[in-house]
Amino acid sequence: MKEKILVTRKVFPAVIERLREHFDVETNDGDQIYTRGELEVRMPGKVGALVSATESIDAPLLRHCTSLRAVANLAVGYNNLDLAALSTAKVIATNTPDVLTESTADFGWALLMATARRTGEAERWLRLGLWEKWALDLFLGVDVHGTTLGVLGMGRIGRAVARRAGGFGMSVLYHDRAPVDAARELGARYCGKDELLRAADHLIITMPYSAQAHHTIGRRELALMKRSATLVNISRGGLVDEEALADALAEGRLAGAGLDVFEQEPLVCSRLLASQKVVATPHIASASEKTRMAMANLAADNLIAALGYGAHAGRPPSVLNPQVLDTA
Ligand code: DGY
Repeated sequence: MKEKILVTRKVFPAVIERLREHFDVETNDGDQIYTRGELEVRMPGKVGALVSATESIDAPLLRHCTSLRAVANLAVGYNNLDLAALSTAKVIATNTPDVLTESTADFGWALLMATARRTGEAERWLRLGLWEKWALDLFLGVDVHGTTLGVLGMGRIGRAVARRAGGFGMSVLYHDRAPVDAARELGARYCGKDELLRAADHLIITMPYSAQAHHTIGRRELALMKRSATLVNISRGGLVDEEALADALAEGRLAGAGLDVFEQEPLVCSRLLASQKVVATPHIASASEKTRMAMANLAADNLIAALGYGAHAGRPPSVLNPQVLDTA
């Protein structure tokens, strides 16, 4: 008899078929987001779970999941997983790095360009039938080429964003916990966070979220930024204090914000939603057909290998707590 796994969200049929070669798979074809109570009912008896950023896996939930041996996150960000609790429970945790880096960086640029050149606002206006004549001062934005890009978080995605800046003749500054060797090849200069905020014409957030990083961009940080600057967030909503951002935009202390992520998804702070200076998208930075398929396949590869099946049995490609593998 096959071992049982749970797939908590709707996933491409071809990937489910791959999982079915090894497991008895419980799917969620209706794609509703399971409540904590539903997870407590569905997870027990399962040896593995393929989850998304919409499910939190923590110690209280794990107490109900005594058969669980692996959790594969269908996302590179894993702030929804309590890694310490998973490791204590000897549950292997994995994520989906690399496969989404380039698509996510592309999208960061899409948001940056749209925010700086006000494309969302201009398109809404045009569609309302308000365009009567060309005008010299119609939707004046801020330039992207030849300006300074600030990258907050120089991981894989930050580096892919920085690499693209060369084509726009931009200078790149970045901040991270420490200088990153690979950034030097890109011509990016390391600096302190406050210097980054003061100097950036366009700031893009590509750092991971953790409780310590909550509101990394708050009132104090926004006050350091140029009035003509734009802010783009393609990481996690909790990194930015949304009320402080709404104030800065309303008071003309920031030119615009491009936001793919929000503090309480799928809810969007009503003041940001109402602001014409905000370009808002529903957490789709990695959402090209090819990349989302690659993410789903990598999550499946991870789960199959973590549970001891397939060609890479026992060696999941992207494990977050390798110490659990060593003690298994
Ligand atoms: C990720 O991979 O972390 C994306 O944000 C999707 O959740």
